[in-house]
Order: sequence, then structure tokens, then C-alpha cells
Amino acid sequence: MRTGAVIVAAGSGDRLGAGVPKAFVRAAGLPLVTWSVRAFEDARDVTAIVIVCPPGQEREMSAAIGTHGMVHAIVPGGSSRQRSVAAGIAALPHDVGAILVHDAARPLITPGLVGRLVSRLRLHDAIIAAAPVADTLKRADAQGNVDATVDRAGLWGAQTPQVFRAHVIRSVFATADDAELDSATDCAGMAERRGIGVAMLDPGAPNMKVTTQADLRLVEVLLGSGRIA
Ligand code: C5P
Repeated sequence: MRTGAVIVAAGSGDRLGAGVPKAFVRAAGLPLVTWSVRAFEDARDVTAIVIVCPPGQEREMSAAIGTHGMVHAIVPGGSSRQRSVAAGIAALPHDVGAILVHDAARPLITPGLVGRLVSRLRLHDAIIAAAPVADTLKRADAQGNVDATVDRAGLWGAQTPQVFRAHVIRSVFATADDAELDSATDCAGMAERRGIGVAMLDPGAPNMKVTTQADLRLVEVLLGSGRIA
């Protein structure tokens, strides 16, 4: 299925403290965002990529990623993640049958994972990468002490990519108001609220989000070890 990929890369990355937007930070020799561009270019189904970047940094983004024929557009992001996703979806070609949304902050994505997700759209309107929670979960009180232990049975951590039939995700965003675009933290949640079934696929391999310097060091090791060749 012809698939358009939106890479959201407009976050500031304040928690990383690198002094530049997170997508530009280099890991194993490449800007974080470029690892995702490469994975999509090598994925069987992806036909167009839109990169959503910090407003005013379109030129820097273009220079950072270099020449990639499949990059259809580089567009400025919004004040929230979901506003950035909306800008990316609006810039995709209209002929795609599937739309995939991915965080630039997850550079361990592989072409194989993209293919597995897209192929399952035959059975589902929406499917996301996600993994069962492995840690015991605690709810904290205002002092940061344990208030309660949360039963982790059935709890999964949502990741990206998140893939949708194109008409489904377009209609989700067409009916979203400002409050939802400001508060939602992923696309699947917006779909769920409209009664759309969302399937989950465990990548079975690390697919972590880079948030801190420690995360960055870890993905450098994994990327540098030739995990993605
Ligand atoms: O902040 P967080 O790690 O949840 O961001 C997830 C992804 O969303 C990152 O790749 C970030 O660049 C992107 N984002 C965005 N526009 C925003 C906020 C975050 O594209 N306004």
C-alpha cells in the first residue's frame, strides 16, 4: 500500500540539553532524524516522507539530512506534538492509502518494523508499535514517595511508528478541536476516542525514545554496533 510517512521533529529537546533541537543531535555519526529518514527510504511501502521541523529551521533541516529523493516536504511544526502531526499530514501527497506517524526521537526504527506494521493494515484501521510494560509501576504522591502500586497486567507502552488507513487518520484530525490538539500525546489516543479500534505490534527489539543524555549514549551504542546497516 502506498504509504506516506510523517516524521515529527519539531520538539525543542530541552530535557536533552544539547543546545539544538533534538532531531539535529548526532548519534553514531548522523543527526537523529536522519536515521528515521533512512529507515523509511529502505521500507518497501513508503512512497513519500514529510519532515516536520522547528519553525524557521527548514533550511537547517534540509542541510542536516542531505539529499533524500523520497523527502516530499519539510514543513514547520506547531506548539504541540499533535499540531505538528497535523501539519505533516496536510503536506503529504493525497494519493497515499496509509499514513504513518513517527517521532524523530526514535532512531532505532527499522525498515522491517515499518513493513510489518503496514502489512497489518489489511486487517486493521490503525496499528501502533507498543510493548508490554516490564517494570512494576508506582503512582507517586506530591513528595515523590509511593502512593500506590499500579497493577501492570495488560499495560503496554505506546511507541511510534503509528500507522493508519489514510482516510481514517485524516477524518480524526478533521474533527479535532484546539483542546485535543494541545493535550493529546499520540494519534492512536485520538483515534480511540472516536471508537476506532487500534491494534498493537511489539517490535521485539529496542525502539526507545531519546529523551536524556543517557538515552542518547545508549542509542549510539546500538546504532554504532551495526544494528541498522
Ligand atoms: O516531547 P516528546 O519527546 O514527546 O516529542 C515526541 C516527538 O514529537 C519528538 O520527535 C518531537 O520532535 C516531536 N514534537 C513536535 N512538535 C512539538 C513537540 C514535539 O514535532 N511541538
